[in-house]
Amino acid sequence: QDTSRPPLKYVKGVPLIKYFAEALGPLQSLQPLPDDLLISTYPKSGTTWVSEILDMIYQGGDLEKCQRAPILTRVPFLEFKGPGCPTGMEVLKDTPAPRLLKTHLPLALLPQALLDQKVKVIYVARNAKDVAVSYFHFYRMAKVHPDPGTWDNFLEKFMAGEGGPDRRKEGVAEGQPAGMNTNQPLFLPLPFSPVSYGSWYQHVQEWWELGRTTPVLYLFYEDMQENPKREIQKILEFVGRSLPEETVDHIVRHTSFKEMKKNPMANYSTFPVEVMDHSISAFMRKGITGDWKTMFTVAQNERFDAHYAEKMAGCNLKFQSEL
Ligand code: PPS
Repeated sequence: QDTSRPPLKYVKGVPLIKYFAEALGPLQSLQPLPDDLLISTYPKSGTTWVSEILDMIYQGGDLEKCQRAPILTRVPFLEFKGPGCPTGMEVLKDTPAPRLLKTHLPLALLPQALLDQKVKVIYVARNAKDVAVSYFHFYRMAKVHPDPGTWDNFLEKFMAGEGGPDRRKEGVAEGQPAGMNTNQPLFLPLPFSPVSYGSWYQHVQEWWELGRTTPVLYLFYEDMQENPKREIQKILEFVGRSLPEETVDHIVRHTSFKEMKKNPMANYSTFPVEVMDHSISAFMRKGITGDWKTMFTVAQNERFDAHYAEKMAGCNLKFQSEL
């Protein structure tokens, strides 16, 4: 375990990267503009992909203009703070309208003004198992996170979301719960470390529900993989813009995983190594659907499916093939 990494901090019950927790105070002074567009996701769900697509749309498909700065300068990351980098709020001050904004915050931590003014939202969700795998590798390389521990440990944290309460509800004190097959991964002893941003289950559901009162375009990473052009057309309609078909095709090509992986303005290679160490795992890692199959054991998968069904019960949000 690398203990030099900063532990997560709880804000209103939500665990966060220490630096991001510190950025939440200044973030409350955010003043939304009428044409702001908020890109929201749980981490590792396709944020960078949809950000690049939107910047391309806003720049009319002009590749050179999209090379003007790294992605987090073009699309300020509201709660961002990190060693050797300007904060999201500092970047935002120099961002001309119409602005694209990025967040991973759950609604409880979002600046209230964004909700009050019903700023338009594009939300991207990705299947939970691929998110967990991508997040594990991201934790390893982005050292602003605590050490992820083993994959077994990390998956337990991911499923627990906020941490202890879920497990206590199940009557689990510490060690291995009664009746559990010894071949299954061990529960961690309490106190239980959660993952940054808390529960995936709550995040995808609450932003889905927000669509009842606020304009939210809810997209899925898997749909973007299946037919990027169709999803870009949905985005164009939502933001009230139109582009010639050849420009849309050009955006599809430029925002493919292969292109974005080699684009220094999209692949986070310009970030200080203290924030992201690409020699451990690339930010643009695999960019596929179903990579979870290479990581989950059969036992983990069964347990995950049962837990998933419980957490998502009663929600009419459906993922492709209920991954
Ligand atoms: S972050 O750090 O939360 O903002 O990360 P985020 O951008 O949401 O997610 C990173 C994962 O998205 C993959 N990715 C892509 N997939 C397909 N096509 C494109 N263009 C693309 N761009 C990024 C990236 O590789 C991460 O997924 P994994 O599974 O780790 O490869």
